[in-house]
Formats: sequence, structure tokens, C-alpha cells
Amino acid sequence: MNRYLQNRERLLTSSRPLPDFEVLGSQGPWLHCAGGTRIFDGSSGLLCTNVGQSSPKVHARIEKQFFRYSFGGAAVVQPHIQTELTDRLCTAVGRPDDSVALTTCGTLGVEVAVGLARNITRVRDKKQRGDILTSNMSYHGMSALTLALAGNHARRPRPEDALGLGPAFPAPYPPTHAHEGRGCDASCADEIMKEIDSRGAENVAAVLIEPVNGTTGGAFVPPDGYLRRVSELCRERDVLVIHDEVLTGIWRTGTPLASRHWDGCEPDMVILSKGLGAGYTGVGAVLVSPEIAPWIRHEDADPLPAMGTMATHPLMAAACLGVLDELEAIDFTAFEARGERLGQAMKSLNGVGPVQDIRGLGFLYGVEVARGQLWPVMKATEEQGVFFYPFTGAGEPKSEGIVVAPPLISTDEDIEFLITALSGALEAVG
Ligand SMILES: Cc1ncc(COP(=O)(O)O)c(C=O)c1O
Repeated sequence: MNRYLQNRERLLTSSRPLPDFEVLGSQGPWLHCAGGTRIFDGSSGLLCTNVGQSSPKVHARIEKQFFRYSFGGAAVVQPHIQTELTDRLCTAVGRPDDSVALTTCGTLGVEVAVGLARNITRVRDKKQRGDILTSNMSYHGMSALTLALAGNHARRPRPEDALGLGPAFPAPYPPTHAHEGRGCDASCADEIMKEIDSRGAENVAAVLIEPVNGTTGGAFVPPDGYLRRVSELCRERDVLVIHDEVLTGIWRTGTPLASRHWDGCEPDMVILSKGLGAGYTGVGAVLVSPEIAPWIRHEDADPLPAMGTMATHPLMAAACLGVLDELEAIDFTAFEARGERLGQAMKSLNGVGPVQDIRGLGFLYGVEVARGQLWPVMKATEEQGVFFYPFTGAGEPKSEGIVVAPPLISTDEDIEFLITALSGALEAVG
């Protein structure tokens, strides 16, 4: 075995076949490879490099902060750069009066949101237990708690390791109800209501939900009215609603938050991560609405779960500010037009070659292919010069497919390149 392979095996990481290209440089959505070829990053890395790579704006922000001071948690020095970030972020996503907890990744954002929801509902409503309800087609992170809570079948811990937890309600997407021979609509939310009522609302702190499905299932979009009904049912029962927008937040679906595609479903808390750090830094941000945030500071409240050595790292905040600088520079009229163009093209690929279904919104689509065709499709798209990330399938037998999610700073030409390459690859696989 040569030395490179030995070293590669030492790195304990993805169990999926690793792509073959060796990247020597990058610019925006393009990866420049050994041998002079280039690859278009069709899934924004792991759905995170939303403003592309090698951004001068992000670089400038990090460099400036680096030479001011490279470490200084909020408990050590005045958190100026962190508050600059939280102000900019809350305004950018249209929740200007929220409080914000910062973390180092999406998983910890979910952990903190769970802790905050339990603290708030205990002190506000004197809840007995702090149950958190999630769907059977969800992913909320890789810690023991978040894996135990979520429904991603490929990552579920063994029952004996699942802390007695598991997903609590069916997701409102076709694979869930296919065996009952019915489709999904807003009334699927009633399944959450039944679960809350059977546990007793006094035992439930929050419903934790991805407003648009991410990589578990492959970008399913909820039926109109579903998220609103979830919010109404929870509000009637004093149960909080937490939207996990780790993947969908920060314009991935075309809007600042994915929930903005519908009315009446603004959550009590929202978790952001991937698009905020945009691959330049690990980060998580939990936004807490002004209606409930005061309970966190109540004298009877439990300790704040939002602490950690690196939680408010200044270089992390600087990188995120650079990402917001990049996003602010986007021409949003052209951006919306590109999202529409991508959506139309995706629709037109439905049924081409091995494609079974395509769903999604804005700059996030799941392309489901016939069983056994995932790796041939990935190989064919790489030959056409585009990298796509696979999603974890759902239903029985499990579906399979790729996620189409180009960086948000892609140009018209980039999007056309992606569309041509993808359709060429799908036709080639046949
Ligand atoms: C919806 C969702 N929640 C949480 C996470 C966990 O985030 P991280 O990998 O940054 O810990 C992910 C990661 O893919 C995700 O897609």
C-alpha cells in the first residue's frame, strides 16, 4: 500500500467512496485540480460553501481580527465582534429583536436549542419533563443526544445506545405515507398533535423540525399549510417550535429562512450553521424570539447551556461577518432569477434517464434516481465536471439520489454549466 493510501486510511471520516480529484486551488464555486482540470462544486461542499471559496471579503475580515486578537471569549474580553455579528445576522434574516447563542457547529446549535427550550418551558410553564419531538425523516447532528433524537435511519444508534429516545412523528413526505396509499397535506401536522397529547403537553418542551427536508430523504418540501398548522397546534399547547435551519437557512432555498416560503410559521427558535460559516469556519447560531428570551434570564432558570471554550471565538465571528459581506453584495433580483432558472431546469429533468423524482426549492434540490444508479450517476457527473453530494434515502426500499445545491454566488454561466453537465450525465447513464 502506498504512503498516501495509508495516510488516507488513518483519517477516520466518511464511509462513502471518496472522490478522486485532488484539489490544488479554488475560486468561487470552482475547484482547480491536478492536471489542469476544474470541477464545479454542485453541492456547495457539504451544503455549506454558499459564497464560494477563496473569498477576499472573508479573508480581509479574518486577517483584521487575527492581528487585533485571535482569542478572547465573551467571558474574557468585550465581545464587540460577536455582537457585531449577532446584530448583522438578526437583521439579515428578519428577526431583529432575537437573542442569539453562538456555538461551534450545527450539532451544538441543536444541543443548545434543546437545552434552552427545556429551561424556558420549565421556568415559564412548570413543565415536568423536557421531551423534544422530531420526525422520522430528520437529521439534527452527530452528538449522542441529537443522533438519538433524530430519524436518519443510516445514522440511528443501536436501541441500547439511544438514551431511550427516538423520532416521535411521521414526516409529511410521500415515503412516510406511501404504504397507506395516501398523499400528504397540512393535516399531517395532526400526527404531532396526537403525539403531544398522548405524552401530555406538560411533558413536552418543543417540536424540533427541519422546515424543508435536507439530506435525509433529499430536499422534500412540506405541503402548504403544514408548518403553519404545526405552529398553531404547538402554541395552543405551550410547546415551543424550533426550526433546524442548519442546512436550509441563509438563502439556501432562495429566502433568508426556508420557513419564509409560507405565512404563519415563524418559530420560537431557529438554528443556523452551514451557510453562516459558509465553509470558512465551524459555527452554529441559535436565534431566540423576544417573546421567550426573557425566561432564559429569569432568576429561577437553570444555567445557560450556551457556553464553551470556543463558542464565541472572534475569528469565527470575523469569518461569518465576511460571509454576510459577500451575501450583501449579491444582486438579489438576478439571484432570484437564477433560482427560478435552476428550478425550471430541475423540473425538466424529471424522468430523464434514471431520474425518478425531483423536488426542492430555490438553490436546493433532491434528484432521486432508480435503485443502483447513484454511483453511476455520481461518476458520470464528475466526468462532466461537476461534483454532487449524495443524500440518505427514505422509504422502503430506501431511495437514493444526489443533492443539487450550487453556491449562491454562482453566475448565470455557472448555473447553465451545471444544468448541461447534469442532464448530459443523466442521459449518459440512461
Ligand atoms: C439539518 C441539520 N441539522 C444539524 C446538522 C449538524 O450540523 P454539523 O454537521 O455542523 O454538526 C446538519 C448537518 O448536516 C443538518 O443538515
